[in-house]
Amino acid sequence: MAYAAGVDVGSTQTKAVIIDEERTIVSRSLTETGANVIRAAENAFQEALRGGDLREEEVEYVVGTGYGRYKVTFGNTQVTEISCHGRGAVHMFPDTRTVVDMGGQDTKAIRVSPTGEIVDFCMNDKCAAGTGRFLGAASSALDIPLDQLGPTALRGERPVKISTTCTVFAESEVLSWLGKGKKIEDILLGVHQSIAARSAGLLRRVGIESDVTFTGGVAKNTAMIEALNERLALKVNVSEESHYMGALGAALFALDHILASRAPTKAKQDAS
Ligand SMILES: Nc1ncnc2c1ncn2[C@@H]1O[C@H](COP(=O)(O)OP(=O)(O)OP(=O)(O)O)[C@@H](O)[C@H]1O
Ligand SMILES: [Mg+2]
Repeated sequence: MAYAAGVDVGSTQTKAVIIDEERTIVSRSLTETGANVIRAAENAFQEALRGGDLREEEVEYVVGTGYGRYKVTFGNTQVTEISCHGRGAVHMFPDTRTVVDMGGQDTKAIRVSPTGEIVDFCMNDKCAAGTGRFLGAASSALDIPLDQLGPTALRGERPVKISTTCTVFAESEVLSWLGKGKKIEDILLGVHQSIAARSAGLLRRVGIESDVTFTGGVAKNTAMIEALNERLALKVNVSEESHYMGALGAALFALDHILASRAPTKAKQDAS
């Protein structure tokens, strides 16, 4: 049995996924990217190997992706995160035509063909507004852990209207609403709605076609799932693997390579 791996070195978190020849995930790992990007990639891969009880030699091909994909020093090749999120999303949800990847640094809107090829994409790379970083600013301003932002926002009833689109000003706007006596849950609901609105704008630029699949770490945030559903007037696909979608896509590209490299051998055998 051969194994293939994908390592997604994101600006915030590094994810590794190992799959077998049946395209089944045998192991996954998640670590903070931190300052030592090469180390983060190695750690994520080694942890995934341990999780799958595998030796490094058993993994035949490794694809690196994400902003730090060239730091995957043990990788065989690199593929862009746009391609990997598209591939992973279509694998998990075959009807996917639009992907929204919300990561720690930026949000990407991706249009894919029925076979998972990238048709168009758009990202808000110039400003971090509408991303996990915006949520991070709200989290530190309100002193609420990231994983509690969603559950808290879901208790909101009267969302405030967040006007800033810039992460730098998000913290002060959140604090000023707090100063005006607004409830934390209403402020957070407003933050989620504002991010959903801006993400919808990004998605419109590539064209929103169903199914829409939500990937990246922010897909763990239940309030963001709800805010997107409401804004787009549809139900986005989310799975347990959403955070790992880029790494999964990379692992699928790695498996393609393994299978393609075997094909000539088989053709030779068939011919003899
Ligand atoms: N348990 C959680 N609950 C809520 N949000 C979470 C959780 N875990 C991670 N996140 C969010 O996901 C973000 C990281 O997502 P992801 O790993 O997709 O980013 P990345 O790939 O490092 O960034 P980018 O793709 O922008 O380079 C965090 O910044 C945080 O906002
Ligand atoms: Mg990412």
